[in-house]
Amino acid sequence: MDRSKSISLLNRAVADELHAVHQYMYFHFHLDDLGYGPLAALFKRTAIEEMMHIELLAERILFLEGDVELVPSAQVDKIVDPQKILEKGVRMEDDSAAFYNQAANECAANRDSQSKQLFERLVADEERHYDQYDTQLDHVKKFGDRYLALQSFSGPSEGAAAGGEPPATGN
Ligand SMILES: [Fe+2]
Ligand SMILES: [Fe+2]
Repeated sequence: MDRSKSISLLNRAVADELHAVHQYMYFHFHLDDLGYGPLAALFKRTAIEEMMHIELLAERILFLEGDVELVPSAQVDKIVDPQKILEKGVRMEDDSAAFYNQAANECAANRDSQSKQLFERLVADEERHYDQYDTQLDHVKKFGDRYLALQSFSGPSEGAAAGGEPPATGN
């Protein structure tokens, strides 16, 4: 096993996750400010999960006797339109899952099965995040402003509109 190769892949993942934490918290603040409580809460929950991913990656990097480079892979994209926010989230999760699939294969070729398993675990989480954002994006496309307005009545916690169908009637 070439440790430096695994450490490099793991640090690229840390950079990707750190960017996601920053970007999703930015979305959380703005969606909350706009009154879209459930959607804001989804981005906060996801940001916290990405932070936990950084911890898993950092533990592996230190085990391999590397150091953790805490540099985000990109600057925050200052998007505030809810549909564009969800489109960005879907793209980010899709890109992360693709990168982690590739990284898992590279770790397998490098005979580092623990790092491979870690990347495979992250793929499963990112695909779930993708699905959550994609479901919301479908609802926004289908119901438009009405759907978002109904979300705003659900409050900042877990609202019924966050994951399921919006109510049949409303004003
Ligand atoms: Fe992640
Ligand atoms: Fe994710």
